Amino acid sequence: MQISYHGHSIVKIKTGEFTILIDPFINGNKLTDLVVENEKPDVILLTHGHNDHVGDTVEIAKANDALVVAPNELAIYMGMQGLRTHGMNLGGAKEFEFGTVKFTQAFHSSSYQTEDDEFIYTGMPAGILFTAEGKTIYHAGDTALFGDMELIGRRHPIDVAFLPIGDNFTMGPKDAAYAVKLLNPKLTIPVHFNTFPPIEQNPEVFKALVLKHEVKIMTPGEVFEC
Ligand code: NI
Ligand code: MN
Repeated sequence: MQISYHGHSIVKIKTGEFTILIDPFINGNKLTDLVVENEKPDVILLTHGHNDHVGDTVEIAKANDALVVAPNELAIYMGMQGLRTHGMNLGGAKEFEFGTVKFTQAFHSSSYQTEDDEFIYTGMPAGILFTAEGKTIYHAGDTALFGDMELIGRRHPIDVAFLPIGDNFTMGPKDAAYAVKLLNPKLTIPVHFNTFPPIEQNPEVFKALVLKHEVKIMTPGEVFEC
């Protein structure tokens, strides 16, 4: 499969047949190389309801009839916007034709702020384990460090982990480096930094803190084969 990073928490996975987009926050994301009109995903996976993750999901999903897979309350809310959705909850896995999705816990919050500045609470935030073509990708979503990351890594050997390092709202570099020890992934890619002033970080600092595992710092738009 082909994996690419697009700034903030956006990850794109291309399998032989399908394009899967995770947390497509494009408008308002000064780091991204993506343009909403150019994205043609088959599937959008969402970790939680915050606007910097849901992003342009409604517009992209409508334009492409993409399936939106999200934590249950968020999926229901996306369904109310007229999208084709599939709701799941923590610990549940489902085999789709494009791959297997399992939502993991994430210690964070989950709400969507509407244009009228109303808060819609969207259930539990999550991380995502995505498995296809024999590879397992873990997108941690927004989360604090938690001890059961070790359990996640033991139950589902991880090929590539996307971990937030921005601090303030999620793990910072030190906690994220500890998370790598617990998760034991083959490759770790830091995300969720430098988009906004409170999450400014030097990813090289994170990389230097990770002693026994491989870290790849990706620039938005960079692609690799997994
Ligand atoms: Ni968040
Ligand atoms: Mn976030």
